Amino acid sequence: MFLCVSPNPAIDKRLRVESLQRARVNRANAAQSFAGGKAAHVAMVLRTLGESPKWIGPCGGANGRELLAGLAALGIEAIGIPAQQPTRTNLEILEDDGTVTEILEPGARLTDIEWAAFDKRYSDLLAGGAGTPSVVLSGSLPQGAAVDFYARCISAAHEHSCRTFLDTSGEALRRSFPAKPEFVKPNRQEASRLLERELDSLQAAAGAVRKLLELGAKRAALSMGKDGLLYCAGLQHPVLYAPALPVQACSPVGCGDSALAGFVLGLSSDYSPEESLRLAAACATSNCLAESPGAARLEDIRRFQRQVTVQQLETHV
Ligand SMILES: Nc1ncnc2c1ncn2[C@@H]1O[C@H](COP(=O)(O)OP(=O)(O)OP(=O)(O)O)[C@@H](O)[C@H]1O
Ligand SMILES: [Mg+2]
Repeated sequence: MFLCVSPNPAIDKRLRVESLQRARVNRANAAQSFAGGKAAHVAMVLRTLGESPKWIGPCGGANGRELLAGLAALGIEAIGIPAQQPTRTNLEILEDDGTVTEILEPGARLTDIEWAAFDKRYSDLLAGGAGTPSVVLSGSLPQGAAVDFYARCISAAHEHSCRTFLDTSGEALRRSFPAKPEFVKPNRQEASRLLERELDSLQAAAGAVRKLLELGAKRAALSMGKDGLLYCAGLQHPVLYAPALPVQACSPVGCGDSALAGFVLGLSSDYSPEESLRLAAACATSNCLAESPGAARLEDIRRFQRQVTVQQLETHV
């Protein structure tokens, strides 16, 4: 079982414009909205891979209802924590030349009662499931959240012997390492900020992956957009690298979330480190071609899985 936790979910809105002009009126050629947020993207890809993920997150207003309906339509069991404030919208603007601009709302504050309801449902899901869930903790925290929210989720999950997969940034990421997540996957910018170093070469990126393990993660990946994906299955393992496949990306939004879904399934299915990385990279590449974030198609994933190559960047004894 997979439980995708979304403290700050969103409706993803994708607008297409010819060319975005600052300080001008811009008219969109097309506007679409989808159930979204990072944990939802992970759940969607897991569903496409044939799994039955559950999703939990606060939902408020019309956006909250749209989010729950969108997830249900995809066959994802969504547990909404009723929230007074409306669920946010994340805007993605695609220009004809391929430029992608994202504007992410901060996410509404939850009341103490809503946080308590969230904690309670989360604990019940950890305790009550048939089998031990793998817990996926994804995305930013809404305004006013306790910065150790994810650290507490990880500790609670470990009390129930659940595996924990974390994809967040900033202080929420930094504060989670003492709880020893099973797996973390920052992107280049997130890792660079965390470690306060430039990651402008593969060697530097491999060093950063090792550093994530030394900080307390059991396994770590680092995604570098069109420069590929790195993964290390533990301090006694080598750092592996999958160069990105050459695709005409529609949008990279959700590629990291799709990679995470691949790792979640690979690790939970006891795939080898190479196979897990190949699946993760194939999910990520497929998302580049998807109609919306998280909407990777299974036939693309299977095709790219055969095409991804994996190299060893260094051997650690
Ligand atoms: N333009 C691209 N061409 C080919 N592959 C790509 C491209 N962009 C991303 N990828 C693949 O997707 C993976 C994840 O991308 P990226 O590092 O952009 O994730 P991210 O910033 O965490 O994304 P998000 O948080 O929006 O899901 C990369 O490691 C790579 O495998
Ligand atoms: Mg990301």
